[in-house]
This record gives sequence, C-alpha cells and structure tokens, in this order.
Amino acid sequence: MKQVVWITGASSGIGAALVRQYCNSGHYVIATARSKQRLEKVISSCSKPKNVTILIADLEKLDELPQLISNLWEIHQGIDTVILNAGIAQWGNVRDTKIEVENKIFNLNFWSPIQTIKLLLPKMQKKGFGRIICIGSIASQFGQRNLAAYSASKSALKIYMESLKEELYNSPIKVQIISPGNIKTKIMSSALTSNGEKLNKIGRAQEKGMSPEKLAKKIYRFSKTRRFHKIYTGIEGLALPLHRLSPKILYFLLRRRYAD
Ligand SMILES: NC(=O)c1ccc[n+]([C@@H]2O[C@H](COP(=O)([O-])OP(=O)(O)OC[C@H]3O[C@@H](n4cnc5c(N)ncnc54)[C@H](OP(=O)(O)O)[C@@H]3O)[C@@H](O)[C@H]2O)c1
Repeated sequence: MKQVVWITGASSGIGAALVRQYCNSGHYVIATARSKQRLEKVISSCSKPKNVTILIADLEKLDELPQLISNLWEIHQGIDTVILNAGIAQWGNVRDTKIEVENKIFNLNFWSPIQTIKLLLPKMQKKGFGRIICIGSIASQFGQRNLAAYSASKSALKIYMESLKEELYNSPIKVQIISPGNIKTKIMSSALTSNGEKLNKIGRAQEKGMSPEKLAKKIYRFSKTRRFHKIYTGIEGLALPLHRLSPKILYFLLRRRYAD
C-alpha cells in the first residue's frame, strides 16, 4: 500500500538522511525546508527521486501553517506519517541572549510543531490513522550552559508530546518522539548566537557524533513500533544516568570540558 511520509527540515543533516531512508524503502516522501536548491540535491541522491515531492516552507511563519497543511494534504490526499524534524540550535548565555532570539528558537522548535500537529490531528482522525514523530534532543533531559532556550524548547516538546500520547491512547493516531545525542550534521553552523547571528562553526561534539544515515535507519525501525520515546546516543548518553545518579560529577565534568 502507498505510504506517504512528510519530513520537515529535509534539506540537510538528519532530515536529508530520513528522506533517503524512507524513499529508498519504497515510501512516497514530501520534503519540506526553505532551500529549494538543497532539497533538489537531496532528492537527486534518492533511489526513486520521482517519489519525492518538494514543499517549500518557512516553518517559523506560524500564520502560514494552515495554508501549508492544506497544500500538503492535496499532494497525495493525505499523509500517513509526519516527521517534525526542522530545528535550530543556539550558542549563547542567558544574560546576553536577546529574548527575540529565544522566541525564534521556541517558534521553530516548539510552537511550529505544536501548531502543525493541531492542524494535522483532525485530518488524521477523519482519515482514521496517522503517525506523528517529533525529533527532540538529549538536550531536553538536562540543562547545559549556552543552550538554555534550545534545551527548554526540546524539553517542552517532549512533555507536550507525552501529554498528547496519553490523550490519543485509544486512538489510531500514534505519537512518538526521538531524542538523539550528538549527530554529525552542520547544526552548529546555523546555531543562533546571543544576538541572533549564525554561529558559523563546526560543532566539536557533532563532529564525533553518529552519522545521520545511521540515525535515520534507527528512526525508521523505531517508527514501526508502538513505543513512545527513544534516545539514540553514543558515549555522550552516559550523561543521562550520571545526571540522575550524581549530577555533581556530571556538571564537574561538563565545566572542565566547556571551560570558557
Ligand atoms: N545534530 C545533532 O547533534 C542533533 C542532536 C539532537 C537533536 N537534533 C535535532 O535534529 C533536528 C535536525 O537537526 P540537524 O542536526 O539535521 O540540523 P541541520 O542540518 O541544521 O538541519 C536543519 C534543517 O531544518 C531546516 N530549517 C531550519 N530553519 C527552518 C525554517 N525556518 N523553516 C523550515 N525549515 C527550517 C533546514 O533547512 P533550510 O535551512 O533549507 O530551511 C534544515 O533542513 C533538529 O530538530 C535538531 O534540534 C540534532
């Protein structure tokens, strides 16, 4: 049966790997991002480029989302799965980071997926099925310097999704969230600094991280299960039990690693 997957943030990194994974596994894909040129490049690397449709959007523009969802629905008369992956990182301390920058981060990482889900739910319910997958972050699990708004946005998303999962317990609509650790993408080059400029740096942690292709395979397999949340990390995942068992040691290590 024809399965349609909508992937946001599809022009690079994890989203691009997801487009290839789903397309190469025989799905119809709708790929969204702002850059048409980068999306076309991603599509040309797929095994069946004809099965991928580009849907350009700036997902920070919340008032444009109703029209976007309406256009999305027209393409294949509905979708089966959405992977809300588009996101933006930050690098800046709380004192210096402008509230406008934090708003921008929350808009894309939190409000945009929430508003999208609100628009999709009635359509999916009418159709009788649907799967909503959000890409969160290991950063949602504990606070770190220079990432306050980013971590808070992913944390809010995780709790919101968990609440929605409970509301949909008896529904055919399934909700999932993935929390990746360090993934080898260019996310830190577009991360916002305290005054809203792009950081334009390669993230040291990301460079040593899991490949987006490997993560995309794991997400694909996870999306076939009924589980709600999954964390995919490398060695950095040890921070989670350490945070639970001995936050003092974790923050001692983080302070040494990220000493200014
Ligand atoms: N890399 C990591 O270590 C890591 C770890 C945990 C979680 N994550 C999460 O994984 C997701 C993907 O990140 P990534 O590492 O693949 O980063 P990335 O390579 O920077 O990709 C971000 C994607 O989001 C799109 N995007 C950015 N702003 C947008 C907007 N306003 N409207 C529409 N699309 C927009 C970008 O496309 P355009 O610029 O073309 O619009 C791009 O396709 C994010 O939610 C991120 O928080 C990443």
